[in-house]
Amino acid sequence: MTAKPTPMTKVTFEALGVEALATAEGRVAVVLSPDAKMDAAAQRINELTQGALERLVRMAATKDSADFKPGGVITLSVPANMAADALDVVCLSHSGSVEDARKAGAALAKVRGTADMLIAMGDIGHAAELGFGLVMRDYGFNAHKTDAKPAAGAVRIMCAKPEEVQAAAAPLMAVAEGAFFTRDLVNEPANVLTTTEFADRLKAMEDIGLKVEVLEEDALASLGMGSLLCVGQGSDSPSKVVVMHWNGGPEGEAPLALVGKGVVFDTGGISLKPGAGMEDMTMDMGGAGVVAGVMRALALRKAKANVIGLVGLVENMPSGNAVRPGDVVTSMKGDTIEVINTDAEGRLVLCDVMWYAQERFKPAGMIDLATLTGAIIIGLGHENAGVFSNDDDLCNAFLKSAATENEGAWRMPLGKAYDEQLKSRIADMKNVGGRPAGSITAAQFLKRFVKDEMPWIHLDIAGVASVKTDTTLAPKGATGWGVAALNRLVADKFESK
Ligand code: BES
Ligand code: MN
Ligand code: ZN
Repeated sequence: MTAKPTPMTKVTFEALGVEALATAEGRVAVVLSPDAKMDAAAQRINELTQGALERLVRMAATKDSADFKPGGVITLSVPANMAADALDVVCLSHSGSVEDARKAGAALAKVRGTADMLIAMGDIGHAAELGFGLVMRDYGFNAHKTDAKPAAGAVRIMCAKPEEVQAAAAPLMAVAEGAFFTRDLVNEPANVLTTTEFADRLKAMEDIGLKVEVLEEDALASLGMGSLLCVGQGSDSPSKVVVMHWNGGPEGEAPLALVGKGVVFDTGGISLKPGAGMEDMTMDMGGAGVVAGVMRALALRKAKANVIGLVGLVENMPSGNAVRPGDVVTSMKGDTIEVINTDAEGRLVLCDVMWYAQERFKPAGMIDLATLTGAIIIGLGHENAGVFSNDDDLCNAFLKSAATENEGAWRMPLGKAYDEQLKSRIADMKNVGGRPAGSITAAQFLKRFVKDEMPWIHLDIAGVASVKTDTTLAPKGATGWGVAALNRLVADKFESK
């Protein structure tokens, strides 16, 4: 099955042309500052509609309406003397933040449907960011809807200095395309997104300039990845590790390594999960999905950095061959692990991929992402990912990137004392530490596979990778959380300027 990626709305930027405001079909949107001062485009629209725009905004202002605030939209249907079916008015101040501009764009995406849209922004800044917000919010996973309408409708934004804005928008659209790639992977059901299909979709990224290697089970066995391999041994789908290389930086410069948990479905294995809600475990490859999306964004915008993305792709199934509670496996590092609970499989996958990443690439830093624990959802809900790190500099840089991109991230503690909970009677460690501090003991387990002096961040994204309500920049389902933050971290900390 060849999956078609969810198409991205096409946004173009052009100089103000008052004629088009009257003749444009579909929808016309006008961006006004909170003082409702009318620029040339707004004045023209006001003339055409015989003062309706002015009345509309005045009415909204007297009612102290939430619609004429950042994030709100007021719609006037079938405006007089305009070919458009609707006139949408959004509010954004000249001094508005990037976040407000994205919100305004997202609000327009929600009202647009499949219509064409012409947006008059005048000289209010952040036109590229408004476009980014619109594109990010304009996502729908329709791969399995037989009645889905073909994607339609283009968006034009009239703004000052359109060439400059177009140039500023290009890297943002690369991030959006990366996030769409992540969302498509995370939303895809497990019968479609098998380990093989996942690896194939990553391999196809060679078309955009990445080098992609797929390591099969025999290679993983030769490397000694007994921990990773035990997770997939009950599944008919073969376990794989995929290595994506982006070498945009100076030759020989140590890369950043991004490592993702790619459990294409997590039944829990022999430690079977309860039936209710098990279908959500199609998203248990969310970490690998984000790594893939970041690599895509970096390649599309030709980032001047060396970054390696590694994902461990497995399926956690119960069967006659499945790993049992009580089994002892040997990791690539050589440490032995007593598998107490086959549902704590993510750490078993990550520890081998992390060790391999460090041995082979000697990275300058390593960041792993995983939908690792239900406990992080108890602690932080769906607003923040858990951030664990052994390096304050790298950690603070990431937290700053995440804050700039408005992607929730909250630092959690590590500590030697937690290691007590991982002691095994018969092996070097066990794979679970009991109920207390479940996310921290999981991170503490991973830390054993981080070399001394290796700057490292572990991101537990179980609560943020896929959510059941709409968010500002995404409809419910996969969010693509982390693609923008990690792209920014690379740009700000790893890219040669
Ligand atoms: N994939 C789950 C974690 C998860 C839970 C992700 C909910 C997304 C939403 C992970 O493999 C798991 O099962 N973790 C166990 C660990 C436990 C057995 C120590 C958990 O959180 O219950
Ligand atoms: Mn599990
Ligand atoms: Zn899992």
